[in-house]
Amino acid sequence: MSNISVDTSNQRVAADKSSKTFCIIGDPVEHSLSPLMHNAAFKYLNLNYSYIAFKVKVNELKESVESLRNINAAGFNVTIPHKVEITRYVDRLSDEASLAGAVNTVSNENGIFVGYNTDIYGLMAPIEERLSDFDGIEILILGAGGASRAAVVGLSKKKGIKSVFVVNRDEEKLSKVIELGSTLGLNCIPMEYSDHKKLSQISSQCKLIINTTSVGLKNEKSLLSSESIHNESIVFDIIYKPITTDLLECAKSAHARVIFGYEMLLNQGYKSFEIWTGMKAPREVMRKALLGIFGEPT
Ligand code: ATR
Repeated sequence: MSNISVDTSNQRVAADKSSKTFCIIGDPVEHSLSPLMHNAAFKYLNLNYSYIAFKVKVNELKESVESLRNINAAGFNVTIPHKVEITRYVDRLSDEASLAGAVNTVSNENGIFVGYNTDIYGLMAPIEERLSDFDGIEILILGAGGASRAAVVGLSKKKGIKSVFVVNRDEEKLSKVIELGSTLGLNCIPMEYSDHKKLSQISSQCKLIINTTSVGLKNEKSLLSSESIHNESIVFDIIYKPITTDLLECAKSAHARVIFGYEMLLNQGYKSFEIWTGMKAPREVMRKALLGIFGEPT
């Protein structure tokens, strides 16, 4: 049992001395900075916890989750490409995870694996810092995986959005995201992946563009060019390594505002930490751990 007391500023803690292990599973996962971020928080709060990364291929998910049960892992994060598939292998879903049909955080609650979605907060917090009025705006989402579903759920809570365009290679996944958004009351419109002209035209009228695909992780070119980004737009790439992806370079060339992927990483991480520990996340410590790697982005 945990025996944790936190002072009012949450800076000094009489820590739980039992050891716990957390991890992230995904593929690719070598680039992940979640271990760095969470281990810094555990150390700062004097918790005897550790966090590691495991590469889990697409066809290995089920057995990997069973292994995590067998070793009584305290909790784990789930990343590309498992965020949707994992919903089948946990015992319970939070309301938000159930709504999104996607999980990025699993907590072992007395042997029950409970799936949460902290990506919704992770995506929306940095957007809300820059955008308070969603009335009449058009939004473009690239991708239709777990992070796209989280974005749709988050945006559905905002009033007055005119339309949310979604583009994805896999049309079946695309239509599921469109269905999700429509069910939640958004005017969700699918876009043809190969129709570059139309995409460019729509993109240039969107006030908010969110890349939820893994394109950029290997320094690939973005689906969008700087000509298809309006200078008054906000462009958010959830890829955080490299810190400035091709999409964000294009956004900068277009004089648009950018949201770096590390901001989502941090915000979803704060929430995961709080679910696992029941403690307030040491936000500055986690932020400094990440920015120590990146340096201050411009
Ligand atoms: P998760 O749900 O865990 O986030 P995912 O379902 O694999 O992972 O989602 C990854 C997203 O990146 C998907 O939208 C995927 O597009 P497809 O559904 O068409 O596969 C997108 N993606 C990955 N590699 C891509 C590439 N090379 N080009 C375009 N989109 C890509």
